[in-house]
Amino acid sequence: MDARVLVVIASRHGATREIADAVADVLRERGAAVDVAPPGEAPGVTGYDAVVVGSAVYTGHWLPAARAYVERESGALARRHVWFFSSGLAGQPAAAANSPHEIAAMVRSVGAHGHRSFRGRLDVSVLSFAERAIIAGARARAGDHRDLAAVRRWADEVGDELVRVSALSA
Ligand SMILES: Cc1cc2nc3c(=O)[nH]c(=O)nc-3n(C[C@H](O)[C@H](O)[C@H](O)COP(=O)(O)O)c2cc1C
Repeated sequence: MDARVLVVIASRHGATREIADAVADVLRERGAAVDVAPPGEAPGVTGYDAVVVGSAVYTGHWLPAARAYVERESGALARRHVWFFSSGLAGQPAAAANSPHEIAAMVRSVGAHGHRSFRGRLDVSVLSFAERAIIAGARARAGDHRDLAAVRRWADEVGDELVRVSALSA
């Protein structure tokens, strides 16, 4: 696969960034040229065949920088192959608390191939005072709940589909 892929990733405490890195590694192993960047530093999408946008979920929403990125770039994203993913502590499938209508609207706005939710990591020692207060109220379970094997399987599915749709448009 000789596709060029941009992975745009909004992460506050690093867990979602590591998920994005795993996605990028799988796509690279399959021959794609992959760049990974946060929304504020992402290059224009012109040079890319596909864009994967991921965000951590905080108090029910994607991080503002990720939402703003999709809104800002929606015109250009609509002309590329796009996948979304979220990382949060809510169970599978993504809990109703994680604004599925917002995700569905984003998927529609750019004609994305899909959205996948992955479980994240909660390391209380790195949280701000305000974050600790929110988490205490939510009775969330601390720990690393990420399933990187599931992430890699999904990245493989993305790679498969990218090969398929690239062949169709070649
Ligand atoms: C203050 C706070 C609020 C959170 N709110 C949610 C939430 O609404 N839904 C959810 O699924 N996970 C929620 N989480 C869990 C984070 O999404 C999870 O820890 C994620 O993996 C963090 O990613 P990051 O390290 O890339 O920032 C919350 C975590 C914190 C600290």
